Amino acid sequence: MLERQLTALLEGETDGIARMANVSAALHGAFRFWWTGFYRVAGNELILGPFQGPVACMRIPFGRGVCGTAWARNETVVVPDVEAFPGHIACSSDSRSEIVVPVHGPDGAVTAVLDIDSDRLAAFDEVDRVALERVVKLL
Ligand code: SME
Repeated sequence: MLERQLTALLEGETDGIARMANVSAALHGAFRFWWTGFYRVAGNELILGPFQGPVACMRIPFGRGVCGTAWARNETVVVPDVEAFPGHIACSSDSRSEIVVPVHGPDGAVTAVLDIDSDRLAAFDEVDRVALERVVKLL
């Protein structure tokens, strides 16, 4: 359902930042998580992209935190309890659980990550992983 709405929302827009901006707003509006947004790959770090929620860290090195780990592993990382994830970067002390999904460019390389934080423990499961992996394919 949301996937159909997002497809319609993105139709005709080719600019990547505009697309990420509206996807973060649509996801945030639909699910009301604590923080919903993107970090874009720039050289050997991630730089904060379009997001909804409180202010966040602006740069994350490759392999660092949940975001840098998802990028380095090139796979979705689901963290039920951020305090139990070694190297978690706490942009906000209210964040309790997190999911980070890599976004791929046409050549298959990771171009960005979608990061969603919840103020509840274990807010994300396998169903969210599958759904969000489908969402990022729309970008
Ligand atoms: N917690 C993330 C950093 C980004 S903020 O959650 C928005 C991490 O460990 O990569």
